Amino acid sequence: MKEQPVGFLDSGLGGLSVVKEVKKLLPRENIEYFADNQRQPYGEKNQSELIKFTFQIISFLLKKKIKICVIACNTATAASLKKAREYFSIPIIGVIQPAVQDAIKKTLNKKIGIIATEFTTKNGAYPKEIKKVAPEIKVFSNFCPKFVSIVEAGKFTAPETYEIAREYLKPLKEAQIDTLILGCTHYSFLKKVISEIMGSEIILIDPAVSTSLILKKILSQKGISGEEEKGEENYYTTGSPEKVERIAKIILNNDFFKIQKVQLEELN
Ligand code: DGL
Repeated sequence: MKEQPVGFLDSGLGGLSVVKEVKKLLPRENIEYFADNQRQPYGEKNQSELIKFTFQIISFLLKKKIKICVIACNTATAASLKKAREYFSIPIIGVIQPAVQDAIKKTLNKKIGIIATEFTTKNGAYPKEIKKVAPEIKVFSNFCPKFVSIVEAGKFTAPETYEIAREYLKPLKEAQIDTLILGCTHYSFLKKVISEIMGSEIILIDPAVSTSLILKKILSQKGISGEEEKGEENYYTTGSPEKVERIAKIILNNDFFKIQKVQLEELN
């Protein structure tokens, strides 16, 4: 089982933030990554659509013999983690709980901000999770609909990105939070802009970091950590491979990055 891959899924490039951390922390793991670019953005979908997409992708990844699945997408985690855990027999990790644990440890003034997609924000997954552990903490949320397409277009530090981010982050600055959760895996790639606007004293919580640490712990507890000399990686997209490759090469700093096209019909 040790040589079986770890599966990752997201609506697009966002989950690569988790893969990037996992590659640093667990270089001996084989990776199977699924980006559902054709049906993006997930943040504008409803719960039943998101459950359907997540189930289809996990089933696809199971054919690649994954030993564990990381839902490297906050929106899909909020919508479907519980149901996916009930339905599938492999271990499944989401990105919300790891980020919450981290944020609660870091906040001093007990004011945590969350930026996420519209679905994650309205679904309230983050505040619910925080209140369960630390009901005294005040939570402030805002959704940032344009951030996903900005990242997919590779406009990580473009002037318009700063302009849009200033608008989205204004209410969180006013709330005087000391800790901000980047509650969408795409936002990890906007850290520079977000940190400059929020100020360097604000702690940014990246679920990619928190989740990769949890993944390491679970693999070792179960005795299924990979032992490859160097892990192999396979990437799939329902969108345009050329478009995804262009930006993924920059994100992963890998000129040889290749992604295979999967037709939506193959997921049925
Ligand atoms: N990256 C995803 C997340 O963490 C979803 C982005 C989207 O497609 O809206 O929520």
